Amino acid sequence: MSSLFQFLRSTVFTKIVMAVTGLMIVGFLVGHLLGNLLMFSGPEKINAYALGLKNLGPLLWLVRLAMISALGLHVWSSIELANRNREARPISYQEKKSLKSTFASRTMMYSGLAILFFVIYHLLHYTFGIIQPQTYFDNSYTLLSGEVVHNVYNMVIAGFQNPFIALSYMFAIIFVSAHVSHSVSSAFRTLGIHNPKYLALTAKIGPALAAIFLIGYLSIPIAVLSGIIKPVCDNTEACATMKDCCK
Ligand code: HEM
Repeated sequence: MSSLFQFLRSTVFTKIVMAVTGLMIVGFLVGHLLGNLLMFSGPEKINAYALGLKNLGPLLWLVRLAMISALGLHVWSSIELANRNREARPISYQEKKSLKSTFASRTMMYSGLAILFFVIYHLLHYTFGIIQPQTYFDNSYTLLSGEVVHNVYNMVIAGFQNPFIALSYMFAIIFVSAHVSHSVSSAFRTLGIHNPKYLALTAKIGPALAAIFLIGYLSIPIAVLSGIIKPVCDNTEACATMKDCCK
């Protein structure tokens, strides 16, 4: 019993918590990207997808609960490990830069903090409609099935037509990619993949996912800003800005 308690308090356990929760968040980011890319298929597809998610009901809440717990535990483990590091090494090394360390690996704490602030801002924006209430609440779409739903398509476009909002998302996406680039491979190492045969493969997964996130997520604000994706109001013709057609 006491050895289980010791293990739960150990640095190894904290690192495992960080790795598992980090991989769960990366899994969410893959799914979220696939859903968001429906922006390129027009309002019918993404609005029907958003409705489909909403109709999952308790299952959606289960996933949300798992993700909130994962995020909370991920933040806790990062603070815990940073504190233990500091305690183990009270006098910080002057400009110690390991030959193998990269910019992404040296700035994990900062990129993590920036992502945490972004997630809060992002939830206030698109989930709670507090940042741009006019495009959140007064914005509906009639699906081909006749069902009237929340127009997620136009809401995202209204967000990114504001260059400051688009830019803030683009910075956040760069931070997310930098964080993922370093962390995924080290998560696999923490979880015990030391076999050189697999190490070479897992070392590439982080940078590959980071590149996919960078290109995939950035493509949406860029497509809105450049007019490739245009707002569509309740099955009418596409129009240049929301004010032109969404009255
Ligand atoms: C181009 C980039 C992105 C777009 C267009 C986008 C779009 C959205 C939208 C529309 C929602 C609200 C869904 C709804 O309530 O119907 C949402 C929720 C969310 N997004 Fe994003 N997102 C982007 C990037 C990100 C990134 C990089 C992260 C994480 C670092 C993220 C994390 C979340 C989370 C945690 C939620 C809440 C999910 C839920 O309510 O179940 N998003 N996003």
